[in-house]
Amino acid sequence: MTVESGVLAPDAVRRMFDRIAPVYDAMNRVMTAGLDLRWRRIAAEAVVHPGDRVLDACCGTGDLAVACARRGGVVTGLDFAPAMLERARRKLPSATWVEGDLLALPFEAGSFEAATVGFGVRNVADLERGLAELRRVLVTGGRVAVLEITQPRGMLAPFYRLWFDRIVPLLGRMLRGGAAYTYLPASVRRFPGPGELAGLMASAGFADISYRTFAGGIVALHTGRAV
Ligand SMILES: C[S@@+](CC[C@H](N)C(=O)[O-])C[C@H]1O[C@@H](n2cnc3c(N)ncnc32)[C@H](O)[C@@H]1O
Repeated sequence: MTVESGVLAPDAVRRMFDRIAPVYDAMNRVMTAGLDLRWRRIAAEAVVHPGDRVLDACCGTGDLAVACARRGGVVTGLDFAPAMLERARRKLPSATWVEGDLLALPFEAGSFEAATVGFGVRNVADLERGLAELRRVLVTGGRVAVLEITQPRGMLAPFYRLWFDRIVPLLGRMLRGGAAYTYLPASVRRFPGPGELAGLMASAGFADISYRTFAGGIVALHTGRAV
C-alpha cells in the first residue's frame, strides 16, 4: 500500500486528509478552474428534494453537503478525518456532522431519503461494502448520487494525463501534505470506469442507474434508486 500505487490503508487515508485539510478547498478550485462547485450543485439537484433527510458521506470540508442544504435537504455529513469535518462544521453549523466510517455507517437502516458521495468512494478500502452501506441507510426508493473522478477516453486523454499525472503532483509537492496529490492520479487509475461502477451499484441494491460525465469525461456523476 503506497501513495504511488493509489492504494492506502484507511488510517493512512484519514491522516492524509487531515494533513491536507487546510489547502483542500483551494486545491479543488485550482485543479478544476472552479468547476467542482458546479458539479456538486448538479449532483445535489439530481437526488435531493426539499425536506429530504440527506446523508453526505465522505463529506470532507462540506461543499457537497452545503449544495444539498441549498436544495432544501436536512443534511448529515459524515467523514472519518476530524480536520476535514471541522472545516465542514464551520461552513454549515446548522447541519449534523458525524465522525464515522462509510464502511460501518452509524445509522439505522432507512434513515435517509437521499445520499451523496463526492470524490469519496475512490478512497475507501472496500467499494462494494461502501455502496452496500449507502443502500442500507436509505429508505426503499431513496436516491443516491456518486460524483467521482474518472479517466476520459478519446482526444482529451493525453491532456488529462499531462495535467493529472504531472502537473497536479507537482503542485502538490509545493504544498504541505502534498503527497496526497501523487496519490490522487494513482487512485483514479485503479478505480473502476463508469460502466463498471454502475454495475457495482446495481449489485449493491440500486436500480435506474444512470451516469453522465463532465469536463470531457474527467468527472462522472452516477445516480440510482434504492430497491
Ligand atoms: C477527496 S475528499 C472529498 C470531500 C468532499 N466530499 C468533496 O466533495 O470535496 C474524500 C474524503 O473522504 C473521506 N473518507 C475516505 N474514506 C472514508 C471512509 N471510509 N469513511 C469516511 N470518510 C472517508 C476522507 O477523509 C476525505 O475527507
